[in-house]
Amino acid sequence: MADRMRVVGKSLARVDAPGKVSGTAIYAADFALPGMLCGKVLRSTLPHARITRLDVTRAAALPGVRAVITAADVPDVRYGGGLKDETAFAKDKVRYMGQPVAAVAAATPEAAEAALAAIDVVYEPLPAVLDLEAALAPGAPLIHEAWESYTAIPILHREGNVCNRARIVAGDVERGFEEADRVFEHRFRTGMVHQGYTEPRAAVASWDSSGQVTVWSNTQLPFEVQNTLAEILQMPPSKIRVVVPGVGGGFGGKLRVGVEHFAAFLARKSGRPVRVATTSEEELTAAYPRQGSIVELKTGVTKDGRITAKAGRIWLDTGAFAGSGPGVASVATLVLAGPYKIPNLYLEGFAVYTNKTNCGSFRAPSGPQANFAVESQMDIIADALDLDPLEFRLRNIVREGDEGPTGQVLNGVGLEECLLKATAAIGWKDRRPGPGRGKGLACGWWTTTGGSSGVYVKINPDGTVALNTGAAEIGTAAITGAAQVLAEELGIDLTDISVVAADTFSTPFDFGAQGSRTAFAVGNACLAAAADLKRQIFALAAGQLGVEPDALTLADKHVAADGKRLSLADVARLSQQTGGGLIAHGTFIAPPTPYDTKRVEGHVYPAFHSPSFHAHAVDLSVDPQTGEVTIHKYVVAQDVGFAINPTYIEGQIEGGVAQGLGQTLSEEIIYEGGRVLNPNLTDYKMPTTLDVPRVESILVQHPSLVGPHGAKGVGEPPNIEPPAAVANAVAAATGVRITSLPITAEKIALGLVDARAGGA
Ligand code: MOS
Repeated sequence: MADRMRVVGKSLARVDAPGKVSGTAIYAADFALPGMLCGKVLRSTLPHARITRLDVTRAAALPGVRAVITAADVPDVRYGGGLKDETAFAKDKVRYMGQPVAAVAAATPEAAEAALAAIDVVYEPLPAVLDLEAALAPGAPLIHEAWESYTAIPILHREGNVCNRARIVAGDVERGFEEADRVFEHRFRTGMVHQGYTEPRAAVASWDSSGQVTVWSNTQLPFEVQNTLAEILQMPPSKIRVVVPGVGGGFGGKLRVGVEHFAAFLARKSGRPVRVATTSEEELTAAYPRQGSIVELKTGVTKDGRITAKAGRIWLDTGAFAGSGPGVASVATLVLAGPYKIPNLYLEGFAVYTNKTNCGSFRAPSGPQANFAVESQMDIIADALDLDPLEFRLRNIVREGDEGPTGQVLNGVGLEECLLKATAAIGWKDRRPGPGRGKGLACGWWTTTGGSSGVYVKINPDGTVALNTGAAEIGTAAITGAAQVLAEELGIDLTDISVVAADTFSTPFDFGAQGSRTAFAVGNACLAAAADLKRQIFALAAGQLGVEPDALTLADKHVAADGKRLSLADVARLSQQTGGGLIAHGTFIAPPTPYDTKRVEGHVYPAFHSPSFHAHAVDLSVDPQTGEVTIHKYVVAQDVGFAINPTYIEGQIEGGVAQGLGQTLSEEIIYEGGRVLNPNLTDYKMPTTLDVPRVESILVQHPSLVGPHGAKGVGEPPNIEPPAAVANAVAAATGVRITSLPITAEKIALGLVDARAGGA
């Protein structure tokens, strides 16, 4: 099919390429207005404490200081997504080290810093809950004493420090364990990791004389930010305009209000535009990183390697506020099931409050944590049964038409092909090529997030096209993918399309650049708009050419029939004279994925829409003295449904693997006593270009029934499997099984010492 396509399926240059490669693109952190002030936030210095005194008089009187605000200056509201437990500023007590206590706006950054230092705040420490075990212990201090009074969606199962417990029950797990020949139980841990976007969170706010505020922000979700600001500011959304100038990486870290509300409050109080942007220290102590977790898995198998039952629990450390935790805990249960056919399941995900920063969403939220446990255990079991890990997986994976864990029927299942292609490319037959060298495999599945998208598409009088979308381009080239779908349909070139994006006043609604959905959903909205436009074009052209509309075709920027043709430019000009121009509103909402409602409880994400399937394979060496890992080759075979733009999908895969390897080998936000020990980019160790191996991408294409041309979401999946693939390769290379992330050289070296001593 792709052969007849001119634009989709081709590795064309992205529509936003010139600005990005020349450095002229404007990001939110670049955005500036005349007279703009610098806003900064005073943050708590204790993890859990009562505020006994907060006096800003001295700070407000300093030269250059134009506004100082605290909880006393803002509406007394609790906001949040499914669970409203957050406040703009800590009021009576602080719940993590880094929580906002006050904010200032001043003429210069130095004056703002001086004002922060002059704020008089006194704390009375409270017992802090510093990890998951402490939060879950009987009699643990409550992070939110009044948790029962908070507004929450009724689906959530809450109890004390647990802000949701999501559950999947299928079949009869106890009977399944009785049917098993062997039952395996393991426990895994993962650390807290930051998205590592290049651009800090930044927002500029400015009020006009009518009482309307405009916020230029690098959010992934302008419409969500508009609604949240309406809650926080206690204003109608129609008075709040959110514009996204550009986003220097999001990865889930910019889904929710971060600094926008501070900019808005400070701008109102000072009467001047205010910019607030975070520092690296604020990012690593007070952003929305990936939750650390504990996973327990119990899996029953027959002698011939069929899984009869699985019980799994994952506890996610969501920090001091729920944020996306309740949803992430739900998604986690689907990942815990794995891409396997298991008749009996009992799976639970818990989002747990602690006195840490509010964790959130990070590229495939819960994916790496849960998949690390599942796929590590698959290898442990395969070893115990003396089965090849590939063969063990092939005996249990889902195939076309099978049921998912909650009863959804699976279509477009390319997992077997992914496993076979990834293992062939890594040279699986020889998976222990020599001492200290080994190959590892991991596979998984993921969703294409739903939600609606709208586009306006307008044909300009020169025959070019303006694509107006509410989705932000966050660096993935997903908007380019959607534009390719549009260009194909309208018979134009990709370079004929210009994009207007992400302005809550002028662009149609979009659920946002999240969850691997943008090219999929915006692409489908483009198909709808193109169908409408073609009707309009054919109706006009038919009259001009004296043919029936049905006889017309649209190709090569012309509409034609019976050897007669009219250019798209001519039709556009004609329509301006007769009816206000050629414009269409296309919308898309992913159809619901049916599932068995009786299998789930407390679950906000009970099925994976247009699921993707993937297998990762890695070939690595381990230094026998230091435990240092050197990756020789990394292969990803990913079922993308249909590759709209192969180059940018490969870009997503390579970036996802690089980011995934950071979480695997070196990255962790380390807490001690409630304080982050490594809040800077020297001690928080993200991989550099020198650390990232060659990644081979194999695009497998089993079409989605819903996606444009069969495409599925592609952005998040490459982040899921690196931890398990590497853990399995390290085990193959050394015999040392690491069950916690990150898999540091130190942990491996200690494991090697134990192994030499005859232990472990
Ligand atoms: Mo994503 S974690 O939905 O940006």
